[in-house]
Amino acid sequence: MTDPPRPLVAGNWKMNGLGGDGLALAADLARRAASAKGEESPACDLLVCPPATLLWRVAEALGQSPIAVGGQDCHADAKGAHTGDIGAEMLKDAGATYAIVGHSERRAGHSETDALVRAKAEAALGAGLCAIVCIGETEAQYGAGETLGVLEKQLAGSLPKGPGIAPGAAKVVIAYEPIWAIGTGLTPSLDEIARVHAHIRGILGGASAEGGSIRILYGGSVNAANAAEILALEEVNGALVGGASLHADDFWSIARSCP
Ligand code: PGA
Repeated sequence: MTDPPRPLVAGNWKMNGLGGDGLALAADLARRAASAKGEESPACDLLVCPPATLLWRVAEALGQSPIAVGGQDCHADAKGAHTGDIGAEMLKDAGATYAIVGHSERRAGHSETDALVRAKAEAALGAGLCAIVCIGETEAQYGAGETLGVLEKQLAGSLPKGPGIAPGAAKVVIAYEPIWAIGTGLTPSLDEIARVHAHIRGILGGASAEGGSIRILYGGSVNAANAAEILALEEVNGALVGGASLHADDFWSIARSCP
């Protein structure tokens, strides 16, 4: 057995934040990170994913702090005639070290397929970013007991192939986000989360160094009150946090909940 990977607590700001409140939030987090000492420091890596308009300035505001910055999406191509899109290298140029790909809001709202998500993940890795690949079942699939099958299919179709996964396994992060839990205040039971994460770890080849080093985050209505029990589960290596990441107190409290 390999040691569990260091947890990652990532904030997905989605389409929220203007120069005023977004930069104030980043500055607040940077201050907390700078003044946290010893046991006050979260036992995890920290990441915020602001809207693209704020990436550069948030990266600057976080400066030397240990909080990383990520994009919420990237195009599968490195550059070219794709009006309104952003390439992975551009994210990196703006200060990002991560890119979220395949979030359910993009899969649903922009008709993104597993194959496209895989291409985006490979583009992110190609640019030297860590790719956070999101998967998750709908409420109907959950109700029908199809969760594990759905996730298996999404993993088979959207994880980057080949060299991206093996030597750079730590560069790939999986976020399990039940769609029905996102922004609803609902979460699966702790047993269900544990069962799903164990299953994903098995698919990744958890006994191998590569498969064991991939972080599997849980996402969907994580908040300051439920974070500790979720983050304590085996094979939960952090959280992808939406709404609660817009409030410095809540985000910090979630990060501090890492065991
Ligand atoms: P939520 O969103 O924490 O607001 O449920 C999570 C996500 O969509 O990443």
